[in-house]
Amino acid sequence: MTTDAVRLPGRLIAPEPGWTTRADVVVVGSGIAGLTAALRLRKKVGKVLLVTKDVLNAGSTQWAQGGIAAALGPGDSPAEHERDTLVAGAGVCDAEAVRVLVNEGPKAVRYLLKRGTNFDLDAAGDLSLTREGGHHRDRIAHAGGDATGAEIQRALMQSVADAPQIEVVEHALAVDLLLGADGGVSGLTLHVMGEGQRDGVGAVHCRAVVLASGGLGQVFSQTTNPAVSTGDGMAVALRAGARLRDLEFVQFHPTVMYLGPDSHGQQPLISEAVRGEGAFLVDDEGNRFMQGVHELADLAPRDVVAKAIMKRMLETGRPHMWLDARHLGADASGASHDGDRGAREASVTRFWARRFPTILSTARRHGIDPVTDLIPVAPACHYASGGVATDLHGRTGIPGLYATGEVACSGVHGANRLASNSLLEGLVFSRRIAKVLPGELRPWTEPVADQRVPGLVSGAVRRDLQATMSGKVGVLRNAPGLTEAAAVLDKLAGVTADEVGQDAWEATNLVTISSALTAAALLREETRGSHWREDFPERDDTRWAGHFDVQMADGLTSVAFSPAAPTDGDD
Ligand code: SIN
Repeated sequence: MTTDAVRLPGRLIAPEPGWTTRADVVVVGSGIAGLTAALRLRKKVGKVLLVTKDVLNAGSTQWAQGGIAAALGPGDSPAEHERDTLVAGAGVCDAEAVRVLVNEGPKAVRYLLKRGTNFDLDAAGDLSLTREGGHHRDRIAHAGGDATGAEIQRALMQSVADAPQIEVVEHALAVDLLLGADGGVSGLTLHVMGEGQRDGVGAVHCRAVVLASGGLGQVFSQTTNPAVSTGDGMAVALRAGARLRDLEFVQFHPTVMYLGPDSHGQQPLISEAVRGEGAFLVDDEGNRFMQGVHELADLAPRDVVAKAIMKRMLETGRPHMWLDARHLGADASGASHDGDRGAREASVTRFWARRFPTILSTARRHGIDPVTDLIPVAPACHYASGGVATDLHGRTGIPGLYATGEVACSGVHGANRLASNSLLEGLVFSRRIAKVLPGELRPWTEPVADQRVPGLVSGAVRRDLQATMSGKVGVLRNAPGLTEAAAVLDKLAGVTADEVGQDAWEATNLVTISSALTAAALLREETRGSHWREDFPERDDTRWAGHFDVQMADGLTSVAFSPAAPTDGDD
């Protein structure tokens, strides 16, 4: 089945390159996936150029709280991790990719230890492991309590700083791929906010590009993603002819701190690990509404919890629910709830300061003290389970183009990513790319004249786009809303930019990805994983156990469905 969708720019309007340079491999992005790819490749290919849109630690990895999942604990096994991953993925994971992830996971975490990551340890000096939604074992390694991503980012950045083979260019936005006569990679155009020889738009001639540029959270009004997550890598790949897969499976994190109806942009995450340590959800009346919804109650897979919160919000007309974490660590004080209140609060405070220092200080900054207050929470966009379709070694359909981390769809997440599998995916698949890429490096090729029709959408459309996506393509979707969203996006795609620059490039990428996502969401007439259709409330394996792939040719996108091989992990 193929359906035509909207006409979009075939490439971005940008000034002719004012400078050129050469590198064997360009890695785009500097989170866990990009840094790992660069480090793993650095001794195997000539020159590695690592480019990133902002500074090195401005991406999503820096913000990851909960941790990194791997079967490292006593009694745990990759097979159990595999089962939990497949169940969360709701029937459309790639079983082989999941097997790769869970089997290579423990080794990948040990690699981080070797690179100097200081994970939290238990009293015996072993990795301290916790639990998050959908996991039946304690298997989440964490650092600095709830600052896991920041610690991993620090350790990997240090390793990159110590690696003379890697050249880093910050403030460099990837504009478009340069393609050779065979349709394969021959380079990349970049816009660098630099000085001297590397300022403005330039061209890097290269033999391979590894996209590790993260997700698309800024498509929505509220997201846990930082400002840089505008879907650039996915849009660059789509314009070059790559397939985007499973885009409709956007994960909405259930417990994002609610900051009011006018809040916008990146919102504070309240890690699932808080529920892993015993916090629970309540409504305004104090009812624990997750009980009876799922055998794991408050620790059900993320899509189940997000849906239950939304349902309760709709039933009660309230804009958020509450997370009760006022009892965490209280048992250690020996004080009863009504008895020695001071001792109890001191004990809870100590627990919070040790286990969740980042969340504690962020919540207090917003006027909520988790020690004494309920935390207002509502679902918000958190993670793109889909992305650029890859094989088990990160290869896309374009010769010389690889993808890893959130920008990619390796098949491990299916319809809903299992908590803390994302950092792991970046580590495992970047290593796999580094294993094959050196042996299949393309010869240097000249880019051919670009026949794609250029275009540029005005940066002014961003707020309307986000409001449309949040209102009509958010947690709960239906055909009229999705159809309306597609029409609005079509209109926004026609609002051309007066000025060439980052606002317009990002807006064009946001419109491109939103259009592709909405087209797939409209076609998927069922509820599966994180895709929730009000008008098709059941999962329908007879029609939709498979993937929607979006491709672009001549500025026109098409969506095609392909069945997935059955997995045995469905609940
Ligand atoms: C969290 O800490 O709840 C987020 C972890 C993840 O997204 O995997």
